[in-house]
Amino acid sequence: MAKITKSFAKERIEQLRHELEEHNRNYYILATPVISDFEYDMLMLELQGLEARFPEFASEDSPTRKVGSDLTDTNEGFTQVEHRYPMLSLGNTYNEEELYEFHQRVANVARVPFTYSCELKFDGTAICLIYKEGRLAQAITRGDGIKGDDVSRNIVSIESIPHILHGKNIPAEFEIRGEIFMPYEAFERLNADRTAAGEAPFANPRNAASGSLKLLDPSKVKERGLDCILYHLLGEDLPFSTHSEAIEAAASWGFHVSENSIEAKDIEEVICYIEKWEKQRKNLPYATDGIVIKVNQLDLQRQLGYTAKSPRWATAFKFKPEQALTEVLSIDYQVGRTGAITPVANLEPVPLSGTTVRRASLHNFDQMELLDIRVGDLVYVEKGGEIIPKITGVEFSKRHADVQKPIFPSICPDCGTYLERDPEQARHYCPNSDGCPTQIKGRFIHFVSRKAMDILAGEATISLFYDKGLIRTLPDLYRLKAEDILGLDGWQQKSVDNLFSSIEQSKQVPFSRVLYALGIRHIGEATARMAANTFGSIDALASATREDLMQVEDFGEIMAESVVTYFANDANRRMIEELRSFGLQFALSEEEESPLSDRLSGTTIVISGNFSISREEMKALIAAHGGKNVSSVSGKTTYLLAGEKSGPEKLKRAEKLGIKVITEEDFLKIIEGEKA
Ligand code: IVH
Repeated sequence: MAKITKSFAKERIEQLRHELEEHNRNYYILATPVISDFEYDMLMLELQGLEARFPEFASEDSPTRKVGSDLTDTNEGFTQVEHRYPMLSLGNTYNEEELYEFHQRVANVARVPFTYSCELKFDGTAICLIYKEGRLAQAITRGDGIKGDDVSRNIVSIESIPHILHGKNIPAEFEIRGEIFMPYEAFERLNADRTAAGEAPFANPRNAASGSLKLLDPSKVKERGLDCILYHLLGEDLPFSTHSEAIEAAASWGFHVSENSIEAKDIEEVICYIEKWEKQRKNLPYATDGIVIKVNQLDLQRQLGYTAKSPRWATAFKFKPEQALTEVLSIDYQVGRTGAITPVANLEPVPLSGTTVRRASLHNFDQMELLDIRVGDLVYVEKGGEIIPKITGVEFSKRHADVQKPIFPSICPDCGTYLERDPEQARHYCPNSDGCPTQIKGRFIHFVSRKAMDILAGEATISLFYDKGLIRTLPDLYRLKAEDILGLDGWQQKSVDNLFSSIEQSKQVPFSRVLYALGIRHIGEATARMAANTFGSIDALASATREDLMQVEDFGEIMAESVVTYFANDANRRMIEELRSFGLQFALSEEEESPLSDRLSGTTIVISGNFSISREEMKALIAAHGGKNVSSVSGKTTYLLAGEKSGPEKLKRAEKLGIKVITEEDFLKIIEGEKA
């Protein structure tokens, strides 16, 4: 075993915990993982190893001891409900040796012969269904394992979940847990529809399933074609002595259970089952990511019990990410919204983990060099967390002698401008931000977004208006006429009216959001607010020097430089004048200008959850009393202002850092001058 110093271990443990928390958030809350499950499990394994070797750094709060949470910060519309029995996770392994070790641990406790139930590990989102007197009473997501979101109204539209049970010996009250998933066919259909509507496709069926379950409109959930397989029955005094008996009974009452589970009498049979399904899972109509092995005898399950995070009577054997070998047909170079160029390989279509892969990202020039990839090569593709699969290597033994090294373009494939390379990063950029169609469209998409001008137009609308020549610079939005749009694909009087009313309303959007909407590089929502409050108007901001700008709280050199460069451009100044002539707000309003008080001066406040006023209004109120609103809890935060259904992650973090948590009532007292 390699020698590791204590201080290195401490640092690495902290880093891994932080990374894993981030990945949990990406996976469970944002439903957009950025690494593959395999990569995640390897990080977790490293952390477990370090915590075992250095028990002095153990922490109750470590991701090795908690289940990842899917509770959302603003899960409007869903009530949080405490689970009667915690919803835990499963220990997992990728190799047989560890499976034998699991078996040994079980065998050491067992005094009588026992068997295993071997089941597929369905790759979806866990659900807990509560039945009372034979009727579905409530459906709760896993949440953080202790409490979950009540998604009963959405569950009702999943056909395979029975509302009323039929059959013999149905317990008066019980819970049944299982997995909600989206079969490949429904997933492909959904993504095709989303892409056609200009919406971002889901990265994989699992994200599509968990995203669909949290939709606010149950009729939309119905259209998504979700399915559910149940695999765990819980309750007081249930009349079963084995898990498989319980599942058989559940099937007889009308539940959809897996037809592929078996009872294995020894670990060798378990291994045979794994080997069989490692090959055959490709033929299933839904995604699986491993095999679950459960002790079948419920008495023995009780004896083995649980760790803080998972049962000792079950484990998961995870499949390694599937790879496929296919040919590179060509390489495209795509322009992103900020002008960054991404090489993308077009591949001979190849089936991989249930879908057909046709394209794979090559990320940037350096990555292409590293892989030494050429058109005509046979390459290995793997699915990670992202929508576009990765190319992990080239099969050099199959390379033809005549393949040519690809030439990275020197000009933008969209507008023909010479590319520039950012010396700090591996990226090439198109500098023609004012003339390059992709970049122009990107600017509009940002401008109309909810946190900016909140105009009812999505990516598809912006593309359509651009392609019809209706929009080129931002003020063109305010020049649109109904007759330009009526009759365009999908546009009727009602949608035109809605669009125009949102454009009209955008003229009242406060200065700080207008500033953010302009899309000045490196100026985000919070920094735009700081700049607006400091300078008061666009004219003052436009004439500020680099040094003036550096005085603004949170402004660094890069931001200051970016603002100066933006206003040094005449075209930008002209555009602002045009927008001003349409009535947009380019100065703080009187109310904003004369702060209501300075009672929050010097305070930094994070808000979480819902309040009696909107979140935007709450932010404005904080600013009006001289406070600063930021999005994440850190050591510098003064208060966490927690409303209804505030995020557990933020609360936990505040508690950990000793940050004071205040309610809306406390907040009102503070701004009214009383002590909270
Ligand atoms: S049993 C106490 N059986 O895998 C744990 N879980 O990584 C009981 N899963 O949270 C879970 N297929 O969402 C069980 N056949 C199966 C499963 C399964 C998928 C999921 C489940 C669980 C996760 C753990």
